Amino acid sequence: HSVSIIERDIVIIGAGATGLTAATELRKAGLTVAVLEARDRVGGRLHTDDIEGAMLEIGGQWVSPDQDALKETIAELGLETFARYREGESVYINASGERTRFEGEIFPVSADTEREMVALIGTLDELVAQMDPDRPWAHPRAVELDQISFRRWLEQETDDQEARDNISLFIAGAMLTKPAHAFSTLQALLMAASAGSFSNLVDADFILDERVVGGLQRVPILLAENLGGDVFLGQAARTVRWRDAGVTVLTDDLEVRARRVIVAVPPVLYTRISFDPPLPRRQQMMHQHLSMGFVIKVHAVYETPFWREDGLSGTAFSPYELSHEAYDNTNFGDPRGTLVGFVSDEAADGVFTVSAEERKQRILTSLSHYFGEKALTPVVYYESDWGTEEWTRGAYAASFDLGGLARFGADLRTPVGPIFFSCSDLAGKGYQHVDGAIRMGRQSAAEIVAELDR
Ligand code: FDA
Repeated sequence: HSVSIIERDIVIIGAGATGLTAATELRKAGLTVAVLEARDRVGGRLHTDDIEGAMLEIGGQWVSPDQDALKETIAELGLETFARYREGESVYINASGERTRFEGEIFPVSADTEREMVALIGTLDELVAQMDPDRPWAHPRAVELDQISFRRWLEQETDDQEARDNISLFIAGAMLTKPAHAFSTLQALLMAASAGSFSNLVDADFILDERVVGGLQRVPILLAENLGGDVFLGQAARTVRWRDAGVTVLTDDLEVRARRVIVAVPPVLYTRISFDPPLPRRQQMMHQHLSMGFVIKVHAVYETPFWREDGLSGTAFSPYELSHEAYDNTNFGDPRGTLVGFVSDEAADGVFTVSAEERKQRILTSLSHYFGEKALTPVVYYESDWGTEEWTRGAYAASFDLGGLARFGADLRTPVGPIFFSCSDLAGKGYQHVDGAIRMGRQSAAEIVAELDR
């Protein structure tokens, strides 16, 4: 078995949005690149696929108005966007299983609970306003807020269980996809700060605003097409040999020699690569404190978007339902209707202990609680399960355990010799989102160009 030797200025590990953006920017700066991708496709957590004749967004899909890095890239690539369907009423289900239709952002709860929710949102907005998302560890109360779980913090703020459950939902089930006892309040604030404010997270019309016609994977696919033969598929980086003078990255078939390497993979996968010499103590320790959240994204396609005739938008929330949120996910120009639901963290663990048929029944039953009996009989049903993807290992992204962000956060993106780390999971603004991936890719490229210029 012979190994081909390739020489480039920069080698990039990972052909997700981050790695492909970095490669594109480095090329623009006149440097040569090679992108090594373990999978037989580009895009990583962006994957638009045809499942039984339905186009589904298996991974990331939504674009929000503040995500200007992603929006710029979408425009540069000549892609078109369309708005998520949101006409009509949303649905909320409370702890007793009562279903209420409503309009606006605040869930239809009692006046007392609403007051508590508004107060919590206000307090969180104030805390978030004191945070630079690129430097969350510099928050005036960083150490203290990183010691307390978000769940415990909410318990200290209010006795109102329903208010706590709902506010928790926006960060825990819906974003970090970990139980609220498993991450700190500082980590929760970063999630909100990365989207501008806590109020933005609560506003589905903001967070889940637009989609790309043809699917968001068009972004990495077009970036890779422009890079042509410099993207190598099926090439898992096994070893990174590094000296101050440069790096050699080994796959099973290739030996790539370069001046710098960008490791553009989720941080939970760093240990899949052998570093020679090993990474320094700080990185060895720090990387163990980051872990992936877990969520099942559920796709149910129907002959028609039947909920619309019923005056429903397809938007639904309940911290008490298996699918804690749902949206109209109908494709652009498609006569069929698609609902997307989400089953998060411990609820996802739970449904993976039962048979596939039982899991499908339970999830569709949950959707029927929001949208009625018709939700029980989709023509296409599919569960995105990133927990079984060895080159991702969870969804949506990685976050720190309690205390990790204040302790290690400032070193997360610090290069080690010729090794640069880049990923949406390391981003400030756009954290855990494609926008953050693009920001990180741009930033790593700019840092390398500046360094090589010196
Ligand atoms: P990403 O993980 O995409 O790319 C890393 C690449 O490295 C992968 O292609 C992987 O195969 C490769 N790799 C790993 N190890 C390797 C090795 N040793 N050698 C070579 N290659 C290796 N975001 C958003 O903005 N809006 C949304 O609606 C959603 N929704 C959403 C839903 C679901 C189900 C998921 C899983 C994720 C989202 N996201 C999202 C998050 C978004 O998809 C994510 O933040 C970015 O796509 C991550 O891009 P990166 O390039 O940083 O990592």
